[in-house]
Amino acid sequence: MKILVINGPNLNMLGIREPELYGDKDYDDLLELIKEIAEQEKVDVECVQSNHEGVIVEIIQAAYGKYDGIIINPAAYTHTSIAILDALKAVGGAKGIPAVEVHLTNPNEREGFRKISYTEKGCVKTFAGYGLNGYEMAIRYLVTLLKVGA
Ligand code: DQA
Repeated sequence: MKILVINGPNLNMLGIREPELYGDKDYDDLLELIKEIAEQEKVDVECVQSNHEGVIVEIIQAAYGKYDGIIINPAAYTHTSIAILDALKAVGGAKGIPAVEVHLTNPNEREGFRKISYTEKGCVKTFAGYGLNGYEMAIRYLVTLLKVGA
């Protein structure tokens, strides 16, 4: 089983970026945590990060046929990107690969402009507000979904 984790803009700045919101663990700590969970679950997990909307669209498209599922934190593009939503829908659906969305914070409890989420409409599930643990929850959820379809 192969899972692709996609992190959007500014998530490479974890640890430096607004630690009161996002915590003091950095992006490498996140990669380490994901590696540990992948080993426990005995699945292949690859991680990519991009600050560019079009690149994220291309990464999602290229995942089709190569990965069994996607975990995505689209970061600020969550609230703006119909292109990323459309890409998730293009590779998702009945014959496609499911995507699970993660947010470190809970955007619904923040500024009004973060309450709109386009990308969640292309995802089967969202984990928001659990910090780095949200990625662990997303991996375990996706693995179960892919194994049993539950
Ligand atoms: C975020 C929430 C978004 O609103 C914000 O733009 C981010 C990070 C999160 O993980 O909490 O960059 O996706």
